[in-house]
Amino acid sequence: GDHLPQTLLLLGATGDLAERLLLPGLGRLVATGVQPNLMLLGSGMDDWDNERWRRRVSDAFGTADATGHRVQEMIRDTCYMKANVTREEDLRRLLANCHEQLVIFFALPPAITARAAKALTHIGLPPGTRLMLEKPFGTDADSARSLNDVLARLVPEEQIYRIDHFLGKSTVMNILGLRFANRIFEPMLSSAHVACVDIIFDETLGLAGRAGYYDGAGALMDMVQSHLLQVLSLITMDAPPTLAARDLRGRKAQVLRATRVWKNDPVTWSRRARYAAGQVSGRRLLGYADESGVDPTRGTETFAEVVLSVDTWRWAGVPFRLRTGKALAARRKEAVVTFKQPPRVPTGLIGYDQPDRLRIGFGPDRLGLDVNINGPGHPLELDQAHLVADFGPGELPPYGEVLRGALDGDPTLSVRGDTAVDCWRIVAPVLECWRAGAVPLQEYPAGSQGPDGSLLTPVPAESAES
Ligand code: BG6
Repeated sequence: GDHLPQTLLLLGATGDLAERLLLPGLGRLVATGVQPNLMLLGSGMDDWDNERWRRRVSDAFGTADATGHRVQEMIRDTCYMKANVTREEDLRRLLANCHEQLVIFFALPPAITARAAKALTHIGLPPGTRLMLEKPFGTDADSARSLNDVLARLVPEEQIYRIDHFLGKSTVMNILGLRFANRIFEPMLSSAHVACVDIIFDETLGLAGRAGYYDGAGALMDMVQSHLLQVLSLITMDAPPTLAARDLRGRKAQVLRATRVWKNDPVTWSRRARYAAGQVSGRRLLGYADESGVDPTRGTETFAEVVLSVDTWRWAGVPFRLRTGKALAARRKEAVVTFKQPPRVPTGLIGYDQPDRLRIGFGPDRLGLDVNINGPGHPLELDQAHLVADFGPGELPPYGEVLRGALDGDPTLSVRGDTAVDCWRIVAPVLECWRAGAVPLQEYPAGSQGPDGSLLTPVPAESAES
C-alpha cells in the first residue's frame, strides 16, 4: 500500500502501562491488518535483551488474543534498547534506529516526560514525528503549560497526542451518535429540560499495586481532571459541523472553558475520602493507608466528588456531579441525565415518583432510558420502565483506538494543549482547598457504598437486569 515504513518508539516499555494496556491495544490493532510496515522499538531503563522484550510483547499480545501473520511479524522484528531518555546521547542512539515516519509514545511519569522532551529539543526530530503522551499531562496548570511550550518547540500541535483512553472507549465515542444522529434527545439536552447530570465512575478495584503513581495523584487527578471532564465535554458541547479534530476539539474546548466549580465554592461542593480495610466481593482489602508504597500522612483520596457548572446559554443552572471511587461495593460506570419533572402530572395518573433519565453506561456498555409508563397493572398506574440497549465490545480496546488515531495522523481522540491546561484550571480550586484542609478527608470501608452523605440527592443506580 502507500504506507511508508513507520516506527512506534515506546518509551517506558518495560512498565506496567505498556504491559497491561498499550501492548494489548497495539496487538489488537495490528491484528486488524490496518497498520502495515509498522516496526515497534521498545526502550526502558531495565537491562533487557531483545529476547526478553519479545517475550513481553508476545505475552501481552496473547492476553488480547491478537494473532495472525502481521502480529507474528511484529513480535519477530521488534527490538529493545536500554536507554535513559533524559540523556541526549541515549536519545540520539534511539532515534538512529527509527524510521523517518516516527511516533513516540511517552509511557513515563510526567517529570521524566518533561525532561525527555526538553532533551529532544536539543536534538530535533524528523518533521512529521508524532508524540503521544500518557496522562497525567503535567501536575497542574503551570506544569502543563510549560510542557506544552517544550512540545511546541518539537512539533506542531496537530502532531501532539495527549492520551485520554476514555476517548477511545466505544460508549464514550457513542455519545456523538446518540446526541447528533437522533432528533429526539438533542433538543432536550439543556437547562430547559435537564435537572442535573451525574457522571459516575465507581470501581471495585483497590490500589492494585499502583502506589508509586497513585499516591501522588489521588482520585481527583487520576479520574476527574482527565477522564470525567472529557466525558462532560462530550455531553455538553454543541454539535460540531464535522468530526474532524479541529471542529470537535474546538467544541469541547468551548464548554470546558465555561466549566467551573459550582458557585465557585469548592468547600461546599466537593468531598474526598479514602478507603479503610474491608471486603470487596469476598476479597479482603487492606486499608489504603496500609498498602505498601503509600505515605499515609499525604492523605491521598481514593474517592472524589465534585459539583460543577457549565456556564453556557444551554447549561447555566444545571449541576454536574462528577464522582469516582475505588474499592466500592459495586461497579457503577455511567453518565445519567436526569430530566425535570413534567410541568404537571394530571390528577388521576397514579404513582409518579421518578423523573425520566437517560443513562450512558461505560461498562457494561449500554444505553438506557428510564420512562414513566404503566406497568402490568392498571393502565393509569405508573411504573418506571427501563429501556436498555446493550453494545458489544468495540472493534478495538480503548488503547487500540487511540493508537490508531496517532498512527494514522488523526488527533481527534486526543486532548488539545489548551484544553489540558483548562482541565487543571477547573480542578485547581478543589485541590487547593483540600490541601489547606478545608474539606475533611472522610473514610469508608472497602466494599461499602462509599463515605456517608452526598453533595446532591443520590441518583438511583439502574435497576434493569445486567
Ligand atoms: C485509569 C486510571 O486512567 O483509568 C485508573 O489511572 C482507572 O485508576 C482506569 O482504574 C479506569 O479505566 P478503565 O478503562 O479501566 O475503565
